[in-house]
Amino acid sequence: MPIHAISETAWVLETKNTAYALALNDQGALVHTYWGARLPHPSDYPMPPRSEGYASFNGPGHLWREEYPAYGGGLKYTEPCLKVSFADGVRDCWLSFAQVEVDAQSCKLIVRLHDPTYGLEAHLEYTAHEACDIIERGGFIRCDRGQATLERAFSAQWHLPYGDAYRLTHFTGRWNDEFILRREPLAHGVKVLESRRLTTSHHHHPSFFLDRGTADEDQGEVWFGTLAYSGNWKLCAEVTDFGSTRLSLGINDWDFAWELSAGQTFRLPSCFGGYSAAGFGQASRNLHELIRARLPNPNAPRKVLFNSWEVSYFAVDVESQKHYAELAAELGVELFVMDDGWFKGRLYDNAGLGDWTPDPQKFPDGLKPLIDHVKNLGMDFGLWVEPEMVNPDSDLYRQHPDWVLHFPNRPRTTARNQLILNLARADVRQHLMDALSRLLRENAIDFIKWDMNRNASEVGWGADGPPQGDARQIWVAYTDGLYELWGGLARQFPHVTWQTCSGGGGRVDAAMLTLADQAWISDNTDPTRRLPMQDSYSYVFPLNTLESWVTDMGAPYLPLTLRFHVSMAGVLGIGANITRWNDSQKALAKRLIAQYKQLRPIIQRGKVYRLLSAQPPATTSALLVLDDRADEGVLFVYRTYAPSPTLPTALRLRGLIPEARYRLDGLGEKSGAAWMHSDALLSLDNFESRLLRLKRID
Ligand code: GLA
Repeated sequence: MPIHAISETAWVLETKNTAYALALNDQGALVHTYWGARLPHPSDYPMPPRSEGYASFNGPGHLWREEYPAYGGGLKYTEPCLKVSFADGVRDCWLSFAQVEVDAQSCKLIVRLHDPTYGLEAHLEYTAHEACDIIERGGFIRCDRGQATLERAFSAQWHLPYGDAYRLTHFTGRWNDEFILRREPLAHGVKVLESRRLTTSHHHHPSFFLDRGTADEDQGEVWFGTLAYSGNWKLCAEVTDFGSTRLSLGINDWDFAWELSAGQTFRLPSCFGGYSAAGFGQASRNLHELIRARLPNPNAPRKVLFNSWEVSYFAVDVESQKHYAELAAELGVELFVMDDGWFKGRLYDNAGLGDWTPDPQKFPDGLKPLIDHVKNLGMDFGLWVEPEMVNPDSDLYRQHPDWVLHFPNRPRTTARNQLILNLARADVRQHLMDALSRLLRENAIDFIKWDMNRNASEVGWGADGPPQGDARQIWVAYTDGLYELWGGLARQFPHVTWQTCSGGGGRVDAAMLTLADQAWISDNTDPTRRLPMQDSYSYVFPLNTLESWVTDMGAPYLPLTLRFHVSMAGVLGIGANITRWNDSQKALAKRLIAQYKQLRPIIQRGKVYRLLSAQPPATTSALLVLDDRADEGVLFVYRTYAPSPTLPTALRLRGLIPEARYRLDGLGEKSGAAWMHSDALLSLDNFESRLLRLKRID
């Protein structure tokens, strides 16, 4: 049983290797007491320190390490999780302990805190994910009587062991350049990462890794986590004036307010946190296990796909797509995806979004002739849509100009010539539900790429105003609306596989990946940029979610083999103009696709070891993927450009059974211990790559 009461006022959640403990302090506040390696006895976990240290400039509460601090209740100036205004104008919230409950079946600890004067409750849920050493935090805020306006409602505050010398690893980026790994010391004060864009964003990612500055892939303590949310979010990494480090994460409180009337609740998105005693590699493998288990189809093999975008752009039609489908099928492709350009009026990016019926000029008999052709070739059929968007030049916009996010008396700023439909509106959701259901009912579609190609501006309800509550609820209501629409379609069409895309990696997070099985992580497919990007992505997400296409970016200078090997370290796709491939290129592609299919159970579901980081300035990188029992593995080694001369690349494997014997293609046979502790030397030329198979042979 992973959850124990240590005493009447202290509890611990234990996972396979870790523990997370909390308790009521001498003032009755719910405070954090421990997060780290699992200890042998319940009584080993520390009790909260005596409440002290107040002065006229700090109350005692300022020093507490509260699990879910509210703004109010004395002189406290650290970041709160909750900020509330009550109907009578009081903006001070005192959360005190009300009740605790252990639900053994769902591995949940539920703690209820409340402000009895106003009947406001924070219902905090902690779930122990035992096998992957991760704690999930979430729950809801409830108003029992009267009215309250939430001005901040984060999901969690995570406290690190005492100290003010932590290092934060996180990801920044922009369109076409996502998942840049950043590693920086946390200084006193608050470091904020956030999205104000209506999506998770290309720019920051709601994931964190904290260590004491010395952890590496294989050793050292790492505390890590991620927020499962796809709208505006905020992360505050705070080192307090008393040298305590904590990280708060949740829905962004910027331009946010949520009104609660008696009996109403506000759900907090799940925030996951874990502890690894064995470096960043173990942290990633734990996150992979968690996120994989939450995918709609965790174990289904991901198909090798062809995508038309970089080949056809908007110029898709029946004949050209049939031709590509034939060529793709010959190579061994299993899923043919027609990207943008297929729907009514879509000649370029300035028209058509919103009208989800086939363009009569390009597809005079609908999509059926193409789909039949694709299926006769033995492939699945996939289609691109961008449901949340509308071009002003579309039938939908002409009929419903009031359906987009906008403010009256203000311009509606277009981006890529498009506006955003207000998914917070029930009528908009109903329309999209009907249009997309019809599309999926009338056509044998197996795969949907769901795109979202701009960020938000003028996020207003238009002249109608909000149906209820504060107008600023729109951000959260939009994201709720998106989940409702996508979830409803997924339930109605369970055979469809979904891909999340937002101009590349603008909306990849642990919530999206409960709706979608795969993600398009960047429009940048240049292998030399992809290597560090995929390396960063693998910090959080498993390889069976990482769609990676071989395109013409990098061609003809970068060898086709390198381009394939980069894409094979994920879910392989082809986005290149295959009509231009000569016979030897086609033969190579065919061989590598066949090899990928053979190895994909390991690549897509195996355990990932980043043997040599691909982060700049690295010029050689290596990734090992091992099956669950460490019987078989696939090793990718890449070299980009390094001035000659260089020494051979020295590799040490990881995760093997020390006493077992293994053969590594071309490099001989040794014990697991020898592969892990002595260097295997490999000479690669510039832009050369290797895919080596590892096999247990005893
Ligand atoms: C976005 C996607 C691309 C492609 C285009 C189509 O940029 O990331 O893969 O689908 O839209 O317009």
